[in-house]
Amino acid sequence: MRRLRAREPLRRLVRETRLEPSQLILPLFVCPGEGVRREIAAMPGNCQLSVDELVKECAEASRLGLGGVILFGIPESKDERASGAYAEDGIVQRAVRAIKRELPELVVITDVCNCEYTSHGHCGKVVGGDVDNDSTLEWLAATAVSHARAGADIVAPSDMMDGRVAAIRRALDAAGFTQTPILSYAAKYASVFYGPFREAAESAPRFGDRRSYQMDPPNAREAMREIELDIEEGADVIMVKPALPYLDIIRMARERFDVPLAAYQVSGEFSMIVAAARNGWIDGERAMMETLVAIRRAGADLILTYFAKDAARLLA
Ligand code: PBG
Repeated sequence: MRRLRAREPLRRLVRETRLEPSQLILPLFVCPGEGVRREIAAMPGNCQLSVDELVKECAEASRLGLGGVILFGIPESKDERASGAYAEDGIVQRAVRAIKRELPELVVITDVCNCEYTSHGHCGKVVGGDVDNDSTLEWLAATAVSHARAGADIVAPSDMMDGRVAAIRRALDAAGFTQTPILSYAAKYASVFYGPFREAAESAPRFGDRRSYQMDPPNAREAMREIELDIEEGADVIMVKPALPYLDIIRMARERFDVPLAAYQVSGEFSMIVAAARNGWIDGERAMMETLVAIRRAGADLILTYFAKDAARLLA
């Protein structure tokens, strides 16, 4: 077995899994203001960016040959009805228009969810202490249509309401956006690894948690049902999230479904590697590449990762 491991050119020749910048999607946080570049303490190197700064970051993503960016919004104000999520001049809608003006070719994906826009931080309309499923679908559909109208290339619902893909597909089609694909966060677990993101997006729930809508981590078969339903409802791309603790789910989904498969290496996965590297306990660059290749090897076609720019630079 060692003959083909002897030298890097030989190893490269027989390498089974490849990683390319075009497979990586960079998550970005857009906030109000001008010239704002506020670093997120728990996610070193990642910032809340005002629209002007965001466009610069997107130009860099484009130069590096990334597959695209996914946008999360921090609105001016939050309310019970998440009105900032579906406002025609909402923060994400403004950001998409600005990016598309400067960089029409860059693939812009928008996260469709309510948690950044509700005063209570939950992903939908709270009725009687819990998130009501069907009334939340109306907000999500309106948000997706407003993102498409602003020029988003792909909409990505992350709320985990039942029936949201069908509701969004119907609304997009009715508004004339029959060509806008849906990337569904199909198997999204109620994970502790979203912690740093909630600081970044200012979206931690004020009471309770998300376990009544996000998946229970011990369940694998249930993830297959979630994915199957989303594909039936019209999802064009499916996602498993988080990535590294759920490689088995990525592999199962790859073997079972033939639609493009994305995986989200989430904030906590990123921050753990960066923290260990800063302590000198691990080689951060190698940990980054090894985890990204592991996610690809498990079967993901696309990876959403805060390492997208660093990995692309290393691959260049
Ligand atoms: C919104 C959303 C979350 C993430 C992506 N979209 C947070 C959550 O569900 O609480 C997490 C991403 C990350 O941790 O990097 N619902």
